[in-house]
Amino acid sequence: MSELNIVILAAGKGTRMRSDLPKVLHKVGGTPILHHVITAARKLSPQKIIVVYGFGGEQVQQQTPGADLSWVLQAEQLGTGHAVQQSLPYLPEQGKTLVLLGDVPLVDVEACREMLSQADQHLVVQTFIKQDPTGYGRIVRNAQGEVVAIVEHKDASETERNIQEVNTGIMAMPNAQLKHWLGQLQNNNAQQEYYLTDIIAMSVNEGRTVLPHVVADACSVTGINSKQDLQQIEREYQYRQALQLMAQGVTLLDAQRIDIRGELICGRDVSIDINCVFEGNVTLEDGVYIGPNCVIKDAVIARNTTLAAFTHIEQAKVGQESKIGPFARLRPGTHLANETHVGNFVEVKNASIGQGSKVNHLSYVGDASVGAHVNIGAGTITCNYDGANKHKTVIEDDVFVGSDTQLVAPVTIGQGATIAAGSTITKDVPAQTLTLCRAREQRSIQGWKRPQKVKK
Ligand code: UD1
Ligand code: MG
Repeated sequence: MSELNIVILAAGKGTRMRSDLPKVLHKVGGTPILHHVITAARKLSPQKIIVVYGFGGEQVQQQTPGADLSWVLQAEQLGTGHAVQQSLPYLPEQGKTLVLLGDVPLVDVEACREMLSQADQHLVVQTFIKQDPTGYGRIVRNAQGEVVAIVEHKDASETERNIQEVNTGIMAMPNAQLKHWLGQLQNNNAQQEYYLTDIIAMSVNEGRTVLPHVVADACSVTGINSKQDLQQIEREYQYRQALQLMAQGVTLLDAQRIDIRGELICGRDVSIDINCVFEGNVTLEDGVYIGPNCVIKDAVIARNTTLAAFTHIEQAKVGQESKIGPFARLRPGTHLANETHVGNFVEVKNASIGQGSKVNHLSYVGDASVGAHVNIGAGTITCNYDGANKHKTVIEDDVFVGSDTQLVAPVTIGQGATIAAGSTITKDVPAQTLTLCRAREQRSIQGWKRPQKVKK
């Protein structure tokens, strides 16, 4: 088979999105629409991937990494045909080209592969039967059922608008024919644009057969033109990911209520309750349970650990057999060893917590190293910030920190030490001691009366 190049059209502004962000940078599953198209293109191993860019060009380029991409500027957006024209100098005389639209993210790679098997000789057009074809180019067939033209919605007659077979925008053809036709495009149509779709009628007029390739999967052909389209594709994309997870054995309490914006890797017997969001790269090892409404980004949760409801985790590692949440927040740089407990309204940042240690209630542990088998009482704060710099708190193994303690860093609590509740610790604490630091000793006043409300 001959050399394949792929041209991705991504220069349009996307007026119907009503946004300052170029259309192809809007995200599906946390990834720009254009990146999905590029990922699909790469699977076909082309010689070159040519991205035609224009509106918001620099931004599109900056946010689209890939040394394998060739960028071609379409300075003025004069239509899809004009966009492909810009790429012609980069296409060889021989071989074939696949045209993909930068706003169709869930493109079906297998369907493209099948189209390409016919595109050494023929122009192949991907079509789809759409219940509501509004906005799409219609596939016009003759009495023999042969494709003879594509008519854009805005140019279509009443009769043509009733046609439900639409152009998905994806086409493949021999380069020689593409080059020949593109030179002849006119813009005498409703949008005064140079339509790529006009090459169908040109081909037929020259006596060449245009091959339709009808696909059945609605989402693989949906072009995102509006926020409604974006939302619809987002839900479908998420649902497909949910189906894949379940196929791998993951238990989802509701496949419609999970969002994966990146990559989620799950071991065996993982269970995920409703409304969880996974971002970046997340790994859930065997036997992990994720409670409802958790948000987890770039994290590894080791075997048999439980995250209770409303836990937020970002750039953190959680060891095996641990219990986190509800309402816990693990911020970047958190490293929890095995069998740790981090409970409600506890925030941990840039801190390691050793095996079997517990921080169960209402605490802040930041810039700290906590040893094994430590108990940190409710309301404990590591005072890590002096207003200018951050300082470290070190808590050695087997320490017991009483409730409502402030540990003013830099400070070290020696192994096995006990801190009395309500202490403000500003100096290092020796190992195996009880340390108290309270402003006043406790006293009781007999017969004390509460103040009375003054009547006005
Ligand atoms: C296009 C097709 C239509 C098809 C539909 C499928 C044409 C004339 N129409 O219509 O038949 O049913 O896709 O989704 O081809 N673009 C450029 N430069 C331009 C114009 C567009 O790069 O000058 C890019 C856009 O960024 C977009 C893609 O081409 O990624 C499609 O453009 P869009 O304006 O969305 O075309 P549709 O009206 O959807
Ligand atoms: Mg479109």
